[in-house]
Amino acid sequence: MKKIAILGSTGSIGQSTLDVVKSFPGRFRVVGLSTNSNIAILHKQIKQFSIGSSCVRNKDSALSLKKRLKNKVKIFQGETGLLQLIRKSNADIIVLAIGGTEAFFPLLAAVEKGMDVALANKEALVMAGPVLMKKVAKNKVKLLPIDSEQSAIWQCLNGQDPDRLKVIYLTASGGPLRGAPEKKLKNISINRVLNHPRWKMGKKITVDSATLMNKGLEVLEAMYLFNVAPEKIKVLIHPEAIIHSMVEFVDGVIMAQLSVTDMRIPIQYALSYPERLINRLPGIDFFKLKKLNFEEPDYKKFPCLKLAYLAAYEGGTLPTVLNAANEVAVDEFLKKRIKFGSIPEIIKRVMHRHKNKARPYLEDILDADIWARIEAAREAERLG
Ligand SMILES: NC(=O)c1ccc[n+]([C@@H]2O[C@H](COP(=O)([O-])OP(=O)(O)OC[C@H]3O[C@@H](n4cnc5c(N)ncnc54)[C@H](OP(=O)(O)O)[C@@H]3O)[C@@H](O)[C@H]2O)c1
Repeated sequence: MKKIAILGSTGSIGQSTLDVVKSFPGRFRVVGLSTNSNIAILHKQIKQFSIGSSCVRNKDSALSLKKRLKNKVKIFQGETGLLQLIRKSNADIIVLAIGGTEAFFPLLAAVEKGMDVALANKEALVMAGPVLMKKVAKNKVKLLPIDSEQSAIWQCLNGQDPDRLKVIYLTASGGPLRGAPEKKLKNISINRVLNHPRWKMGKKITVDSATLMNKGLEVLEAMYLFNVAPEKIKVLIHPEAIIHSMVEFVDGVIMAQLSVTDMRIPIQYALSYPERLINRLPGIDFFKLKKLNFEEPDYKKFPCLKLAYLAAYEGGTLPTVLNAANEVAVDEFLKKRIKFGSIPEIIKRVMHRHKNKARPYLEDILDADIWARIEAAREAERLG
């Protein structure tokens, strides 16, 4: 029985992870859960999986859940509570499905404790890749990717000599605005942006898919996870989202990972690795599918992708700044305070003003993150 703690269990990835756990009752046992404030769902999950301890970040929600559970379940609260949950946990693996940079300290705590992490969150790694990957190596922990593209690359590289890698083709569905005319993008509505054709996900990642920043964050994520230079990572638009990424080797051979678009597939593999388990999910019907399409990304229409490449080439604290400015800009857009077209503009202006620190320590990263958030909020006010 592998013991699992799921941080962000009430979100899209968190709930899919519990679906996977349910399908393999003899293999996995959940020993801890967490939410920001969604105690209605967390309460059901605690009952269904007989969980002994969990964490609620929002303090009022934590108090009301404690009352509902009549103090029979240990409920940690707040950001420090989440760190306590991790430090006291007997889990074999932590599933990190909290959205955004908030996942950084929980990830750091898990790695420092020497726990393996199934990683869905990408922002924490983009924020502090060099520092985190050093700690991962030092503590000899495994970062098992859940993000479908990173899982694909990981599976293609399995058993191969990483020095023989030529190019990673990071595929992208193109997001909900692939076919929208460029001149309409500036003022496009929130509803249109949140209507993703292929994946059902949280709001932040859906906006990132629309700007293609999600792919940009994945370029950085792949760079850190697989220790690959950005010039070896090519983004390829593939609207069917059947090939989840490909790796070309020096002899011209290309390995690809294909499956239906269902996050439970990469989640299951991260949990069962190195084993493959039989599941009841549908497979690909190539006779119905008939063809797969590919396009080059439009960097002019989607400037966020270009900005992410710039951050990847420059390195240092620039990826931290890109990520933080993006989080602020997306939040402002979701609160209807800025237009869609202002998201890349804000990130560009903040990155432009940043004094990059080439070999950052953790303190430099935390400073750059705060600085970028303040600058991005100022820019949003100017543009709003
Ligand atoms: N969804 C996908 O298909 C997908 C695919 C690949 C990668 N990812 C990555 O996985 C991560 C999660 O995505 P998602 O779509 O599952 O997001 P989501 O649906 O918004 O869920 C986020 C989860 O984190 C919790 N949370 C939010 N803010 C928190 C905070 N400050 N402290 C503690 N917990 C907090 C949420 O609690 P509440 O329910 O109370 O808000 C929820 O349980 C993101 O980094 C995303 O980029 C997602």
